[in-house]
Amino acid sequence: MEMEQLVALCKRRGFLFQSSEIYGGLNGFWDYGPLGVELKRNIREAWWRDMVSGHNELVVPPGAPAAYEMTGLDATIIMHPQIWKCSGHFDLFHDFMVDCRESKRRYRHDQVQGRWVEAKGRRVFVATELPGDEGLKDVEHKALKYFNLRAKSADELAWDGPPASLTTVSDFSQVLGPDAKTPGTLTPPREFNLMFKTYLGALGGEESAAFLRPETAQGIFVNFKNVLDSSRVRVPFGIAQVGKSFRNEITPRNFTFRSREFEQMEIEFFCHPSTSAAWYQYWRDRRYRWYVELGLAGERLRLREHGKEELSHYSCGTADIEYAFPFLAPGDFGELEGIAHRGDFDLRSHMEGKLVRQGDGLVVEADESGKPKYRGSGKDLSYFDDLSKERYVPHVIEPSAGADRATLAFLCEAYQEDTAPDENGVPAARVFLKFHPRLAPIKAAVFPLVRKDGMPEVAREIYTQLKPHLNVFYDEKGAVGRRYRRQDEVGTPFCITVDGQTLTDGTVTIRERDTLVQWRVRKVDCLAEIRQRL
Ligand code: GAP
Repeated sequence: MEMEQLVALCKRRGFLFQSSEIYGGLNGFWDYGPLGVELKRNIREAWWRDMVSGHNELVVPPGAPAAYEMTGLDATIIMHPQIWKCSGHFDLFHDFMVDCRESKRRYRHDQVQGRWVEAKGRRVFVATELPGDEGLKDVEHKALKYFNLRAKSADELAWDGPPASLTTVSDFSQVLGPDAKTPGTLTPPREFNLMFKTYLGALGGEESAAFLRPETAQGIFVNFKNVLDSSRVRVPFGIAQVGKSFRNEITPRNFTFRSREFEQMEIEFFCHPSTSAAWYQYWRDRRYRWYVELGLAGERLRLREHGKEELSHYSCGTADIEYAFPFLAPGDFGELEGIAHRGDFDLRSHMEGKLVRQGDGLVVEADESGKPKYRGSGKDLSYFDDLSKERYVPHVIEPSAGADRATLAFLCEAYQEDTAPDENGVPAARVFLKFHPRLAPIKAAVFPLVRKDGMPEVAREIYTQLKPHLNVFYDEKGAVGRRYRRQDEVGTPFCITVDGQTLTDGTVTIRERDTLVQWRVRKVDCLAEIRQRL
């Protein structure tokens, strides 16, 4: 599948629109249309049901070290600015950017790649933003142009080494920027904090500066004590939260994959330090299985353990669940979810102040005068186990998923093409979205075969019965074959059709989207029939 086909379908059928489109759009922001909002809601609700509200704390789930409790939270988007100082986001949550003085474009330093090439006695690093094979072609095209050579003289270009990231180049005077005509126009890399800044109240000075949260996780840590004191949860337990996060990404790209406003589904799971390694394994496997169960099976999904050099400042172990999105170069994967072993970094940071690693341990970071650089809350966030009489700061395992990335992956995976009979019974190409029925925006469509003989009345009656329980769609316009196709294209798993036989024996047909198999059921049994397949 070409990404353009999916993007076009998403727009045409109301899954996703560019934000503020009538004003020319806003880069990095996306709106969910009538079907998109249902799809994303179903993903969010499946996550909440499977991880939180449907979790049974009385039994030990397969693979878990023990039984555990789950609870939820909904914290604010803007929180006390000290939270971001102690969490490390104020100092460390940045990407490096480079500007091009010639094209006035800005790039993320680590997203520019290129190749060294020599011709006519000159040597340059020709850079591109495009990935994979597309990038290689772009580099060759630019190199020919720069050296004023025709395509047939491509063998005059002496390539030096394989493609490499701009981060491997120390002298930018020989770099031909992705949109530049002359080398040496890129500025040295500069830090750019990704948090969106705002000002509280009317004064507007630095004292009132605050940030839109770049992750939902911190709202959970700072409410750890409130949750403990107000509910009867005992360690091990998890607090889950779904909500918007904001990152001022330098180069938002790849449809909704890297957006500036997006939604996260995060769990902070608190456990005894001695059991944290086992819980980390459990959550990695549990979260991976969740995607598989909802249809992201196969080679496009993988679980990848991070190397030591990749770990965040707080993490003692991280694995990513990754998906081979079609916009990536063959063999490349994009992150859907990270599962991190965060140790006691977060709770201690909010008690003691911002921590830094020293040897194998964590110590409060000091300023030039030796005082804590950023003070913590001073509140005791330790846990007292009244059975073992032990007091300790729990360790945290964090499965952190993106609702928009999950939605995009489910859309990519669902996109299918096959051949099926059209409205005249002639085999024709068909596009359909093979969503898991739990995720499908519309669960069933109800059609009268023709708009006469009392069929619409019966179809409306069935629709009215189903509507309070399921998101169903009624359609009586056009040939029935065309109506099937329209539902296939948005992933509706079942179509119920009222036909001549319905009027004599009270049965209707149900047609299944993927197999096109049809069977008859009594019209009163439609709800039960569909429910058992969701
Ligand atoms: N609390 C940890 C945390 O936020 P992260 O890896 O930065 O970790 C977690 O983000 C998830 O949030 C990612 O796996 C991804 O699904 C989603 N996410 C992060 N940045 C995003 C962006 N710019 N656009 C869409 N989703 C994003």
